[in-house]
Amino acid sequence: MASEEVITVLVTGAAGQIAYSLLLPIAKGDVFGRDKPVKLVLLDITPMMAVLNGVVMELTDCALPLLREVVATDDESVAFKDVDVALLVGAMPRREGMERKDLLAANVKIFKSQGLALDKFAKKTVKVVVVGNPANTNCFVCAKFAPSIPRENFSCLTRLDQSRAQAQIAARVEGVAAQDVSRVVIWGNHSSTQYPDVRHAVISKDGQQIGVQDAVKDDSWLKNEFIKTVQTRGAAVIKARKLSSAMSAANAICDHMRDWWHGTPEGKWVSMGVSSSGAYGIEPELIYSFPVTIDKGRNWKIVEGLPIDDFSRDKMDKTMKELQEERSTALETVKD
Ligand code: NAD
Ligand code: LMR
Repeated sequence: MASEEVITVLVTGAAGQIAYSLLLPIAKGDVFGRDKPVKLVLLDITPMMAVLNGVVMELTDCALPLLREVVATDDESVAFKDVDVALLVGAMPRREGMERKDLLAANVKIFKSQGLALDKFAKKTVKVVVVGNPANTNCFVCAKFAPSIPRENFSCLTRLDQSRAQAQIAARVEGVAAQDVSRVVIWGNHSSTQYPDVRHAVISKDGQQIGVQDAVKDDSWLKNEFIKTVQTRGAAVIKARKLSSAMSAANAICDHMRDWWHGTPEGKWVSMGVSSSGAYGIEPELIYSFPVTIDKGRNWKIVEGLPIDDFSRDKMDKTMKELQEERSTALETVKD
C-alpha cells in the first residue's frame, strides 16, 4: 500500500486558551481539507505538561478520522522536527492596561529560540504563522534566527483585525453580512497603530458591488470611530473577559492558514503580516501587514498599485515607525 501523505502541524502554546479553540478545527480537516490526514505536534513549557496531557486525552476522545498522531512535548528539538506548518501561538498574553509592545521583553526571546529550532529541525518549506504578541516583531525575530528558511515562509496574524473590520462594516450597513464585505486592508502592526483601511473595500450582494464608503455614507464614522474600534478591539475583549481573545483568534488563524494552503479566491485579498518588499514605501524586510493574494502554489504576493491618499499615508507611516522602534528594542533584547 502506498504511504499516505500526512501534514505535520506544530502548535505552540498548546495548553493555552487559543490552542484550545484551534486544535479541533485543524484535526477535523477545516483548514487543510476534509480528506487530508494530519499529525499534531503540541509544544508547551514543562510546568504545563500535565494540562497538555489533558488536551491530548480530549483530542483522543474525539475519535477523529483524519488525526493520525498526536505528540505532546516540552522539547523544541522534538517539536520542530520536519514540520510542514508551525503555528506559533505560545507566548504571554497581555492583561488589562498593557499595550502589546509591553510584552516584547517577555516574549521576544521565545521567538529567537524557536527561530533557531526552525532553522535546525523544520522542513525548509515550512509555513510559519506567528500569533504570540507582539506578533509582527516576534515574526521578524523568528525569521532572523532561521536564515536557511525563505523569508516568504514567515507570516504573522492580522486576519483577526481584518475580520473585526468586516464585521464592523456589516453591522453598520443594513442587510449586509461580514462575508459580503471584501478588500478591507489592515496595514502595519497588529497593535493600536494598525490602519484598517476601507478606501478600496467593497460590498458584494445580489450580483451588485458598491464601495464601502458609498454604502456607509458617513465618512466621519469611517475615519474615526470605525478605525478606533478595530484598533482597540483586543483591549475591549480583555476588559470584558479579563482574558485576551481566544475563540476569534483561533478562527482567524484557521482562515489565515486555509487561504495560505489553498490560495485566495479569484479577485479576493486577505491581510497578512509579511516581509516588506519595499512596496508602498514600507521599509524592506519589516514584517508589516499588507493586502496579499495567494496562488495555488502557496506563494503570496502583495497587491500593488492601490492609490494612497494623505490620510492613509500618514497612518501607514505611523504604524511603520512603531514597528521600527519595536524592532530596535527586540534586537537589543536578543543580542546575546
Ligand atoms: P495563554 O496564556 O492562554 O496560552 C499561552 C501558552 O503558551 C501557555 O500554555 C504557555 O505555557 C505557553 N508558552 C509560554 N512560553 C512558551 C514557549 N516558550 N514555548 C511553548 N509554549 C509556551 O495565552 P493565549 O490566550 O493562548 O494567547 C497566546 C498569545 O497569542 C498571546 O501572546 C496573545 O497576546 C496572542 N494573541 C495574538 C492574536 C493576534 O491576532 N495576533 C490574537 C489573540 C492573542
Ligand atoms: C487581540 O487582538 O485580541 C490580541 O492581540 C490580544 C491583545 O492583546 O489585544
